[in-house]
Amino acid sequence: MSPPPLSGFGLGLRVEHYADFLDGRPAVDWLEVISENYLVPGGKPLAHLERIRAEYPMAMHGVSLSIGSTDPLDRHYLRELKALTRRIEPAWVSDHLCWTGVDHHHLHDLLPLPCTEEALRHVSERVLQVQEALGRRLLLENVSSYVSFDGDEMSEWEFIAELARRADCELLLDVNNVYVSSRNHGFDARRFIDAMPRERVRQIHLAGHEDHGDHLIDTHDHPVCEAVWELYAYTVGRLGAVPTMIERDDHIPPLADLLAELDRARAIQHEVLAR
Ligand SMILES: [Fe+2]
Repeated sequence: MSPPPLSGFGLGLRVEHYADFLDGRPAVDWLEVISENYLVPGGKPLAHLERIRAEYPMAMHGVSLSIGSTDPLDRHYLRELKALTRRIEPAWVSDHLCWTGVDHHHLHDLLPLPCTEEALRHVSERVLQVQEALGRRLLLENVSSYVSFDGDEMSEWEFIAELARRADCELLLDVNNVYVSSRNHGFDARRFIDAMPRERVRQIHLAGHEDHGDHLIDTHDHPVCEAVWELYAYTVGRLGAVPTMIERDDHIPPLADLLAELDRARAIQHEVLAR
C-alpha cells in the first residue's frame, strides 16, 4: 500500500537540523530528503532518518538520475533507490529534468536539455523505464539554466508539459528556478507557470539565488527573494494548494529562520486561496 500523498508545507531535511528533529517536533507537515545521502545499508544517517521518518511524512528527492543523458540508465542506482523507497515509504520520488554527465563522467551540475522533439522522445522513453523500475510515478523538477540551444524547437514549458503527458509522470515545480531562468533568458515567468498542467504538479520548491544584475545564479544559499514570493502567489492562484517547501542547500541558517520563511509561504497560500 502506498502512503497517502503529502499536503501542507515542508522543509528539506539537512544534517544541520537533525538535532532539532530528533529532540523535538518542529512544526512542519513533511520533510524532503536527498535520496543519495541515504543509499547505504546502515550507519548513523540512516538511523537518524528512520527515527525522523517515524514522526514525519517524507518525499525523496534525487540528484543523480541524469534522466536526460545518453548514457544507459544506472540500474544499480535504481535498485538502491527502490530499496530506499521500501524503507521509508515516501509519498513520492523526484529528480531533475536534466543531464549530469556523459560517457560515464559525472559533472555534478544539473545541465539543461535541448527543447527538441528528439530530446523529448529520448527522455520520455527513459522516464517510462525509470517508472517501470521503481514501480511508481516519478516527479521531475525544472532546473535553472544559463544557456539555451540554437536548435530548440519549443519553449521549456512546452517541453515539460508534453513530457509529463507522454511519460505520464508528475512534476516538481521549482518557482525559484523558473524565476532564475526567466531573468537569464528574458522570458515572462508567468507564461511558464501558465503552461504547467495543474493535475500533474505535485510539489513546489522555493529557494534563494544570487543576483548579479545581468544574470542570476541558482545557489540555494539565500532566503527567498520578493520577486519569487510574488511568483509563488501567482503560482498558487493558477495551481491551487500544491504542497510547498523551502529548499536551502548552503549557508544553512538556524531552523527558526526556515520556519519563518515557511510561515510566509503558508500566509501567501492562505491569502491567495481566500480571494
Ligand atoms: Fe529545487
